[in-house]
Amino acid sequence: MPQFRTLDDLQLAGRRVLVRCDLNVPMKDGKVTDATRIERSAATLKELSSKGAKVIILSHFGRPKGKRAAEFSLKPLVEPLAKALGRHVAFAEDCIGKAAEDVVASLKDGEVALLENLRFHDAEEANDKSFAAALAQLGDIYVNDAFSCAHRAHASTEGIAHLLPAAAGRLMQEELDHLGAALEKPQRPVTALVGGAKVSTKLDLLGNLVTKVDRLVIGGGMANTFLFAQGIEVGKSLAERDLADTARDILKKAKAANCTIVLPIDAVVAGEFKAGAANKVVDVKAVPSDQMILDVGPKSIAEINRHLDESKTLVWNGPLGAFEIDPFDKGTVAVAKHAAALSKAKKLLSVAGGGDTVAALAHAGAEGDFSYISTAGGAFLEWLEGKELPGVTALNVTALKS
Ligand code: 3PG
Ligand code: MG
Repeated sequence: MPQFRTLDDLQLAGRRVLVRCDLNVPMKDGKVTDATRIERSAATLKELSSKGAKVIILSHFGRPKGKRAAEFSLKPLVEPLAKALGRHVAFAEDCIGKAAEDVVASLKDGEVALLENLRFHDAEEANDKSFAAALAQLGDIYVNDAFSCAHRAHASTEGIAHLLPAAAGRLMQEELDHLGAALEKPQRPVTALVGGAKVSTKLDLLGNLVTKVDRLVIGGGMANTFLFAQGIEVGKSLAERDLADTARDILKKAKAANCTIVLPIDAVVAGEFKAGAANKVVDVKAVPSDQMILDVGPKSIAEINRHLDESKTLVWNGPLGAFEIDPFDKGTVAVAKHAAALSKAKKLLSVAGGGDTVAALAHAGAEGDFSYISTAGGAFLEWLEGKELPGVTALNVTALKS
């Protein structure tokens, strides 16, 4: 875990503080449909403002690929931000140059400004040095509060951290603390629950996790590939049959690392992938050839819950079944509820992340009782893969030149 400065280490009054937030929120017809990332950015912004800093917010929004485009403007975020902060938020039509300089120059201590989408400049994603310098010139201090963008080595997440005194914001700090507690120095036994459709998208993740956790529960479509790799016929189920060797390698690696792999023992099967499709529970060894696995069965749920009862730490990514179609959400909902109850009773430290995962936990009504829900999607996955996150590494004080 890198050593990083926090807001506690900075003199903030009267200073221009550039804060990288992740305001890449879901939006429909110009309205924010999920304000979670705004709300979770508020703590840092409010603290900076109350300590008398001039607060300058940097963010990307969507993937405009270096071109200005109205649908990718951050302007619709001004009002929701002002609401979350309880104060006026100024807006600059560009994130560098005169438009940005004028707005920054007009800020009094404690005031807040949002600069237009960083990705209107392709220099942002290219981590261009002169673009990073143009951003850096707008502030005295750089604060990175965007853990969910830390897997990107962009000018606003990586380059700029080398040009100004840099620190982690409160959300970044909170993410790193909880994720560290879950995988780096966890209370054991640690169980990871990994679901989702395809093994191919999570190979690195599984390979890393088997070396770190004591038990690995595999669910979703990916479990079918593992069952198939062990000689079990899975009928019409989604399975990556060409990855059977890879799945067997992961099982071998798990065995060598003393990690117990937990696969479904029974399954809910149906003839088609459709909400309300006629279904039944079968043993995984008895999936009819014209049927597909769409969820884990009751015996599997009980078995997974027993593993959670015996664990002190849980890391969760991905649903156990086709949770988006009823009634194949049952397995995910039952296990999520059980994990939530154990967490609420302080018997389990549970950390979850990834877009689909948070949606699944919210659907189960389990979100509020998890110990920690990461704001990150892609960055959470790369962290589970054991990869270095450039945005975090750049905050490492021992790596800083100045
Ligand atoms: C996200 O939503 O995952 C982050 O904001 C990063 O966005 P990106 O995948 O477009 O870099
Ligand atoms: Mg992404």
